[in-house]
Amino acid sequence: MTRLLFEAPEVRAAARRPQIRLYGVRRVYPGRGVTALAGIDLAIGRGEFLAVVGPSGSGKSTLLHLLGALDRPTSGDIYIDGTSLRSVRNLAAFRLCTVGFVFQFHHLLPVLTAVENVEVPLLALGVPRARRRARALDLLARVGLLARAHHRPAELSGGESQRVAVARALANDPPIILADEPTGELDSQTAAEVMAVLGDLHAEGRTLVVATHNAEVAAAAERIVVLRDGRIAEERKRETARIVEEGRREAGRVVGERRPEAER
Ligand SMILES: Nc1ncnc2c1ncn2[C@@H]1O[C@H](COP(=O)(O)OP(=O)(O)OP(=O)(O)O)[C@@H](O)[C@H]1O
Ligand SMILES: [Mg+2]
Repeated sequence: MTRLLFEAPEVRAAARRPQIRLYGVRRVYPGRGVTALAGIDLAIGRGEFLAVVGPSGSGKSTLLHLLGALDRPTSGDIYIDGTSLRSVRNLAAFRLCTVGFVFQFHHLLPVLTAVENVEVPLLALGVPRARRRARALDLLARVGLLARAHHRPAELSGGESQRVAVARALANDPPIILADEPTGELDSQTAAEVMAVLGDLHAEGRTLVVATHNAEVAAAAERIVVLRDGRIAEERKRETARIVEEGRREAGRVVGERRPEAER
């Protein structure tokens, strides 16, 4: 008897297989001997939107840095798409193809224009100049900032800078987006705009992990992990149907409010 491919149990299992797995991850900062993460076991599904919350100093940024291969655990291991980060020699190269990072203070290079900032990761990949420019302009259009392409960061608002940072995180088309307090410095309207852009990326199937103090941002996630003293203190999951419904409503509202690029 023929079996439809998508019905095969192994195919369904593969669709659910976690993209990121952490086993007993500890991070002790030497010198002062701070244990920032004290043994984290966690699986993050492909295409999941996960919020990491917890008090200041609970280890959120440390966790994101480890997930983004910006730092290595003191012990334990992280697997991304089945690859142990311990086995990766060149973390920078791995990072470039796998994750896009959005930082709290956006970390744009002040001497470069918005479009040049978005081009930086493409430069690292050796993409030729004309293709780099075309892709960076596409990405700026996507976050509604084509009209600001040649502004330097000092000539942009906080929300605009953060949207440039999102465009830069997307330059290499990474499957995983990590955002550390992406709305930290923004007013609620601007924060909603940045979250709408991140929500679109999740809707496209990217895995999204956001560390945040903002209850509204956390409420938009499918699952919330609460850190306390470097440990997972609690996990909360939202009901899928409600997420999809609310996501649609929210996307419609925010997109509807956005001014067309031509009017700017
Ligand atoms: N480079 C470092 N050297 C030593 N200790 C550090 C370093 N970075 C962070 N820590 C400590 O590790 C702990 C976790 O820090 P982390 O930045 O991960 O917290 P956080 O949850 O992101 O906090 P916040 O909400 O304030 O951003 C804190 O106690 C912090 O002081
Ligand atoms: Mg932090």
